Amino acid sequence: MDTESRVTQALAHHGQSHVLRHAHTLTPAARTTLFAQLAEIDLALIARLAHGGEDAAIDFATLKPAPYFHLGADTTNARAHGESLLRAGQVAAFTVAGGQGTRLGWKGPKGTYPSTVVTGKPLFRVFAEQITAAEKRWSCAIPWYIMTSPLNDRDTLAFFKDNNWFGRNPADTFLFPQGTMPSVSFDGKLMLETPSSLAVNPDGHGGAIRALASSGALEDMAARGIRHLSYFQVDNPLNKVVDPVFLGLHASSSGSSAEMSSKMVRKRDAEEKVGVFCESAGKTVVVEYSDMPAHLTTALDTDGALRFCAGSIAIHAISIEFMMRLTTGTGDGAFALPFHRAKKKVPYWCDLQHLTHEPNEPNATKFEAFVFDALALARTSLVMEAARVEEFAPIKNASGNDSPASSHQIQSNRNANWLEQFGVKVARRPNGDADARIEISAETALEADDLADVSLPREISAGQEIVL
Ligand code: UD1
Repeated sequence: MDTESRVTQALAHHGQSHVLRHAHTLTPAARTTLFAQLAEIDLALIARLAHGGEDAAIDFATLKPAPYFHLGADTTNARAHGESLLRAGQVAAFTVAGGQGTRLGWKGPKGTYPSTVVTGKPLFRVFAEQITAAEKRWSCAIPWYIMTSPLNDRDTLAFFKDNNWFGRNPADTFLFPQGTMPSVSFDGKLMLETPSSLAVNPDGHGGAIRALASSGALEDMAARGIRHLSYFQVDNPLNKVVDPVFLGLHASSSGSSAEMSSKMVRKRDAEEKVGVFCESAGKTVVVEYSDMPAHLTTALDTDGALRFCAGSIAIHAISIEFMMRLTTGTGDGAFALPFHRAKKKVPYWCDLQHLTHEPNEPNATKFEAFVFDALALARTSLVMEAARVEEFAPIKNASGNDSPASSHQIQSNRNANWLEQFGVKVARRPNGDADARIEISAETALEADDLADVSLPREISAGQEIVL
């Protein structure tokens, strides 16, 4: 049977024939494109998902906070081990940058957003400069893998080319698009975005594991002798692209290497919109803020602190062997983490107006997989506490919390802390915030101690802007 007949029959079987209602009006090329897109869709999976996501059932009655490695504990050995992995060239950086960034309202890939306090360096440049500085520090190569989506892959590649790959060898930066999932209306029907294409969305950062396998990135890593991936989101300019302490703890020298490890910060308050590390049925899991029952979100310990305090900053160390184990034998990298459902606004083709309509209210269900669901599949996993001001200043919203303004303040605060360690007097506001805009490039200092060799001002006064 040819593709068209096979697809037509399958659509009829699943009650989805409506997507072919314009097919007779299409040019042969557009028709081929539509059928090719439809042929890729697992209609049985969509039918299952439309009637309920695959979210793991969590027993909230027995849910416990996950144990974690506390800030302030001795990390000398971990650091030495992490540095030896870096020197041996066993670590790669991995950025998930396939999201649509709708909340920020930025037209273009999120990684192109100007993120630093004074010079407005784009997020991708911030990471590129850190990688280059880390390569110099540990005399190693750190290949950089970046997951885009079919929606922003071309623009992302163009941005890297326009910026001359940030002075790095293009052969050491590997861009690949993640997969997509069709969105469905609330009654489970596939939706057209144009007469010849379905409405689809990136399949979530959980699509990363499959995409790493199917793009050939995993093989590329294996060929380069990479053993661990330093995973981070594109939205956090304070992210450490590689952290020897974290990597060292993850790949503990005692031989009991974790398969997937995570960083947490103590939640700012109960309402902060971050996933929380918990222990469920003996496994470390992340419960997303929207899924956590209110009584647990606000529960306090006897000392009055939040009981579920371990906020995920979406930074992981993942062993290549673990990803190989998950994806090998599943047929062409077809491994998939469970899909979660979210009600979203999805543009759809309007027959009457002959145009793609942008709805004002959620009109569809999107299916997305979350990378942290892989934690439940890891044989061993570790959570490490990080200092918020050192490592977490995400840019997600146009204003308020997690916005460019809040990120700039945290970046200046971190830089003020670093400078004060070397005797620089920095103007502070009554609430403790730095009262100056301070930027430090990775070339100048990857971490505070590097400032020891830098000529520093004696004082930074209120309202001053400074770039080091
Ligand atoms: C995410 C986490 C949350 C964590 C917080 C920390 C989820 C569901 N939640 O929230 O637990 O506490 O970050 O900042 O992840 N991405 C893709 N492809 C996709 C979707 C997203 O690559 O299909 C990337 C984005 O480009 C971005 C990252 O994943 O780098 C985060 O995505 P987003 O959906 O914005 O998650 P948050 O709600 O911010």
